[in-house]
Amino acid sequence: MIVDEKAQIYNKLSSFYDKLFFVLKPGHKRAGEYIKEQGIEDVLEVGVGTGLTFCHYAPGTRVIGGDMSLGMLEGAKKKISDFPHLSIELKQLDAQNMDFDDNQFSCTYAPSLLSVVPNPKKLLHEMLRVTKVGGKVIVISHFQGDRKQDALFSKAANPLTQRLFGFRTDLSMELIDQLENAKVVAVEKVNPVGPYYLSHMVILEKTS
Ligand SMILES: C[S@@+](CC[C@H](N)C(=O)[O-])C[C@H]1O[C@@H](n2cnc3c(N)ncnc32)[C@H](O)[C@@H]1O
Repeated sequence: MIVDEKAQIYNKLSSFYDKLFFVLKPGHKRAGEYIKEQGIEDVLEVGVGTGLTFCHYAPGTRVIGGDMSLGMLEGAKKKISDFPHLSIELKQLDAQNMDFDDNQFSCTYAPSLLSVVPNPKKLLHEMLRVTKVGGKVIVISHFQGDRKQDALFSKAANPLTQRLFGFRTDLSMELIDQLENAKVVAVEKVNPVGPYYLSHMVILEKTS
């Protein structure tokens, strides 16, 4: 069993997570639409949480859902029977260091995980490693904005969000630009809150 500071935070949040994090739902819907449009049949979803994304997969999709928190995985397990048309397997894992072989999945998907892990660069490399060449990597995450006031807000909010929810608000898009074996297919703002957007959805294609 993995015991980790972040897993402990999410174990505590798991019983009321679905009520607290409903703001992430538009991003789940948008990514689900993209996965369906592409006809993707197998997805490794990391940081699967309580399975809020399951309702957006097309019938017949094989979903491997990995998460570090057993509490969150328990929430996901309870939802499986609502989706008999999907093949869902759940697994406790650290998405920064997975025991899957290289080039296994048509799509790897991390909704709201990049800003939670201690080493986001390692997570992206690991997602690309297990994705087939030509396959897609989809990341939904908060990224620090370019404007001066966004950067100041992100810096100010960071200690609080880290302590309460285990995620940081100061990630830079440079992380994506620095990837060598991936090209950016699309970047879209998702998860609106009033006039602002909490997250970006980044879609990458593995090139080699
Ligand atoms: C903000 S929640 C997002 C959950 C879900 N993806 C969603 O959008 O509702 C972050 C999730 O990542 C999980 N997590 C944190 N660190 C992880 C790691 N290293 N490997 C896998 N999952 C991790 C947490 O347990 C939690 O379920």
